[in-house]
Order: sequence, then C-alpha cells, then structure tokens
Amino acid sequence: MDFQTQVMAPGATAKLAADALLLVLVGDAVPATLDAPLADSVAEAVKLGDLALKAGKTAYLRQVPGVKAPRVVVAVAKNGSARAVKAAGAAGIAVVKGLGVKHLAVLVAGVDAVGAAQAEALATAAADAVYLYRTTKPSAGDAPALAKLTLLVAKADAAEAAAGLARGAAIAEGVTLARELANRPGNHCTPTLLAAEARKMAKAQGLKIEVLDRKQLEALGMGSFLAVAQGSDEPPKFIVMHYQGAAKTVAPLVLVGKGITFDSGGISLKPGEGMDEMKFDMGGAASVVGTLRAVAQLKPKLNVIGVIAACENMPSGRALKPGDVVTSMSGQTIEVLNTDAEGRLILCDALTYVERFKPAAVVDIATLTGACVVALGAVHSGMFSPDDALADDLLAAGHAALDTCWRMPLDEEYDEGLKSNFADMANIGGRPGGAITAAMFLKRFTAKLRWAHLDIAATAWKSGAAKGATGRPVGLLTHWVLSQAR
Ligand code: BES
Ligand code: MN
Ligand code: ZN
Repeated sequence: MDFQTQVMAPGATAKLAADALLLVLVGDAVPATLDAPLADSVAEAVKLGDLALKAGKTAYLRQVPGVKAPRVVVAVAKNGSARAVKAAGAAGIAVVKGLGVKHLAVLVAGVDAVGAAQAEALATAAADAVYLYRTTKPSAGDAPALAKLTLLVAKADAAEAAAGLARGAAIAEGVTLARELANRPGNHCTPTLLAAEARKMAKAQGLKIEVLDRKQLEALGMGSFLAVAQGSDEPPKFIVMHYQGAAKTVAPLVLVGKGITFDSGGISLKPGEGMDEMKFDMGGAASVVGTLRAVAQLKPKLNVIGVIAACENMPSGRALKPGDVVTSMSGQTIEVLNTDAEGRLILCDALTYVERFKPAAVVDIATLTGACVVALGAVHSGMFSPDDALADDLLAAGHAALDTCWRMPLDEEYDEGLKSNFADMANIGGRPGGAITAAMFLKRFTAKLRWAHLDIAATAWKSGAAKGATGRPVGLLTHWVLSQAR
C-alpha cells in the first residue's frame, strides 16, 4: 500500500481526486473547519439520524456536494489520541474496503493538529484492514482494492504527518509479513520455509543472513535446542539476520524469536482440541523477521541482529522424553519434566549463542506459556526484565506503537520450583505463576546479557471466527529499536 500526505488548502475537498474521502470526526459537534458543503452534508446526516456523533459510529454518504470523491465515509473518534483516531479510522475503512475504492483520502477534523502518531496509526489501520490470507485459500478471492491512502493535513502538520506515515508504512509491511508467515499452516511453514522466507526478506532489504543447520548446531553444543528438534523429521534451522546502520564496533540490539513451527507438545502430547493453533507457535520468530524488515526500511543509525531458533516439537521414537536430561550450550544441564515446555529449551541455547555479539540489549519474543494468556489476556503482551531502564523503554515503545506490554515480576522466590534432583534445573516450575517461572528459567541463561523477555502467547494471534495472526509485537519492537538510535 502507498501512503502520502497532501497539504490541504481550504476548498481542497472539491478538487481532491480520490475514490473516497474518509472523514474522521473528533468531538461531539461538526467541526467549524470543514468546507461548508461537506459540513452541511454531515450536519444533515446527523439531523436525519443517519449519523450519531458518538465514538465508533460511521455513516456512508454518496455524491456529497462540493466533494469530488464520489463517496464520503464519516467515522467518529472519541478524542484526538492516536488510539481513538486509529479505532475510528479502522471503522471507516471497514465500510469502504468491500467497495471498489483504490485511493482513499483521509481527513481528520476537530483536532488542533495531526501528529506523527495519528498518521502512523491510520497507516497501520489501513494495512491491517486490507490484509487477506490467500496462500492456501484460493477461494478467498481478491484482496481489497484499496492501494493508496492520502492523508490531508494542514501545512504546519505536513512534516510530522509524513514522518508518521513513513513509520506506519514500514511497520505495516513488517506486520503483514509476520501475519502471513504465522498464518501459514505447519506443513507449509516448516523451519526450512521460515529460513527461506527470512532469506528472501533479507535479500530484498539488503541484510546479511546466515542459516545454521543441524551439524553446525551440534558443533556449537546446542544440546537443549537439538533435543526438542530430534523428535521431528523436519530439520531444525537457526537463522541469524544482520541489519547494519552504524559502525561495526557499535554494540547491536538483538532480537531472539521462538520459531516452533508446530507444537504438538511432543511426548507430553497436547489435547486435540485447538491444537491446530500451535502452528502459530512461531509467532515470535515471525515478529523478528517482520521487525527486521521494518527496520531495514526505516534505516535507523544502529545495528540490529535478529536470531530465530526454528524446529517442530513432535512425538516419535526418537523424541525427547519426560525425565531426559539435556546439556545446554551454556553447559548447564536441564531435566525435561514436560516436553511441552519446549520454547524455553530452544530459547536458552539461542540466548547463550547471542553472547558472542556482545549486545547492547537482548529481547526474546515467544508464544511461551498458556499461563500468560490467563494472566493478561490478549490486551498486553507479558514483559519480563531485571533491568528497569530496558523495561521502561519497552513499556514506552508499546504505548507509542499502540502495541502494549505489561511488566511482570522476576523475584528470586519464583526460582524455587525449577530445582531438580537430577540436573542443574528442571524445565517446569509447576502451575502457579507459570509465565513467571518460564521467564525465571530463561533468566538463568542471561547472566552476561542486558535482557528482556516478551511472552506473546495471547497477543500473537486471535482465536475464534477471526482466527489469524496479528503481527504483534512488530510495532512495539520497531518502536523500541527506533528509540535506541541516537
Ligand atoms: N506454545 C505453548 C504455549 C501456549 C499455549 C501458547 C497456549 C499459546 C496458547 C508452550 O510451548 C507450552 O506448551 N507451554 C506449556 C508449559 C507447561 C507445560 C509448563 C503451557 O503453557 O501449558
Ligand atoms: Mn509447548
Ligand atoms: Zn510452544
């Protein structure tokens, strides 16, 4: 999708060549700044009872006098915040997306200024609305025709709005890529395909990439990651992508994604109901690919490395068994009490691997625990970090991106349950505080790192009728990366 800004002189709606005008109205009155014929039409719609000036309401008007575009959609926002403008924008776009609208002009009225955050929010809302999963569903038909969005702004707002649109456009590309990868079924999106798609992205964006195979992982001593992979006929892949926007000597930010392309639970097999959704268990990996794509487009002056541990978690005659003890790359041994707690087993080796980059900070992203779904629901991703400054930066990035996280505790007391009589630690700590004990497990592999963990088990995809990947937390991660540039 193309995004552009256009400075709006009074009367510009009369000349604007677009297929539709989306008018986002902020407040509970028709703003005085609107061109008179348009304002009259909106006022008439209100009078006729076709439009209530209440947040979330929309109205569809045709052939509005004084507006060149043949369609006008009015959407009411609660206030001028980016969140409210995004919600209204999404509601308005939902009205036009089924129509033949290719070029949509958007005017936000009733606010003093349209800032970068509002512009970014409108761009991501539009991209979200037009994404259609088609790869294994030819009958899904064509994606919505909407291909271009022009944001109408006052001259004083133009620079900010253009910057916001550019950021939104890059994030939208990253989100769309993450959604597409995560939506693909497990028999399509194998570790091998994930590596191939990462390569495709890296090549298109001019990033360096290496993919390590089983032999190389054995040589590195990744006994924990390989133990999860051993039950599957699909070979594991360890993907390392490099974005370089600063001198090689500048310590990189590192993103580590959980890339379980299907989580059956292994020998600790999951119940059948809803198991299909475990194709989304590579949502963390998808968000790393998507974020690197967005970052490559935005070109901040820093270095970012994206790392993905990808494999399947399957039962078989060669599979990891409850009670097995594995030796991680760090040298610490792990008693596997439940083969379904596999995410931490692959991430711990990835966290040890990234020590070699001497990172400025490391964030891992994982659909790690059902307990996090229970704790936070689908509103906030779970965020864990012993580092207050890093935690604050991630919270702020989440707010800026409208892709929020919530900080969870990491007190030493939670480590108790990970004790084992047969290894340095067990891989589970019991049901209470399950998201936290999972994070405590990872923490044991981060002594040399400035580290945070995002549990996206509830936020990476939606269940039910709207089942599908969300692309979260590409927005949060991209904002965090941008916030670290100086
Ligand atoms: N991928 C799952 C976590 C998950 C479950 C994400 C449901 C989203 C929805 C993870 O590998 C897993 O199975 N975790 C177990 C851990 C338990 C065995 C300690 C869980 O959460 O049940
Ligand atoms: Mn599992
Ligand atoms: Zn899993």
